[in-house]
Amino acid sequence: MLFITTIAGIRARRAELATTGTRLAFVPTMGALHEGHLALVRRGQELADEVWASVFVNPTQFAPGEDFERYPRNLEGDRVLLEQAGVTLLFAPSTKELYPRPSTTVIDLPELTAGLCGVQRPGHFQGVALVVAKLLNIVEPHVAVFGAKDWQQAMVIRRMVEDLCLPVRVEVHPTQREDDGLARSSRNAYLARDERRAASVLHRALEGAVAAIRAGERRGPALEAEVAAEVSGEPMTRLQYVAAVDPDTLAPLAALKDRVLLVAAVHVGATRLIDNVLTEVC
Ligand code: PAJ
Repeated sequence: MLFITTIAGIRARRAELATTGTRLAFVPTMGALHEGHLALVRRGQELADEVWASVFVNPTQFAPGEDFERYPRNLEGDRVLLEQAGVTLLFAPSTKELYPRPSTTVIDLPELTAGLCGVQRPGHFQGVALVVAKLLNIVEPHVAVFGAKDWQQAMVIRRMVEDLCLPVRVEVHPTQREDDGLARSSRNAYLARDERRAASVLHRALEGAVAAIRAGERRGPALEAEVAAEVSGEPMTRLQYVAAVDPDTLAPLAALKDRVLLVAAVHVGATRLIDNVLTEVC
């Protein structure tokens, strides 16, 4: 596996690859890799001849007071996992390399970021959109793979790619979970043992709402109330938001039709966790 830290290095390797007609998939990450990230790599291998990944903890998507400094970093471990998974190139730039000076360009998708995580994390999706646009312009992959766990992020990226005519296919891959349903996340490493046990309530509550849909419930607010009640039964967790939304527009659904995304964020101690489930309404 090649290990490259400069934009010039990537461009040179990318130009070589272009001469061979190789189809390239790309998996951008912030590192502290787990099975969720590796599933994206495997999906990339199904869709292309070669998979490149990046590890970059992007400062512009963390608000002041968030966990940028203490975000888990394990570049050596990440290198091993990616190499074992068959990734052929890892791009791990420094902050100076990607942001030689503070960025003045803002990529804002207000309709998709006004709600859900956009409320609690102002500026977060602007930072995500900016770094993903940079990475896609540097790597120029045929397909970029993102996880459904961060559904709002995936929709922001999909729409940005469309709006800016970026020549890349955006693939969204299902959420990988622990045995008790907890979505795999680099932030799970923050959880103490009793917090880790408590955290499973999030997925259980969302699945409870899916069961209610199967049983005929069609009112968005009633489903939200059901999730809130289940989460409040676990005293170590605090619900930040829950919403039943249109999966594409992220607009709240008063009455369900066709497809619904149930999406929620909770605090478990000092750790903020998000999850969602997408379900057909039939
Ligand atoms: P990070 O949190 O490292 O996630 C990298 C990719 O892995 C994202 O597309 C995310 O949705 C996906 N992912 C994380 N946990 C997953 C799980 N349990 N199942 C499936 N996919 C999962 O998301 C980011 O980094 C950053 O915002 C980034 C897009 C790299 C921009 O900085």
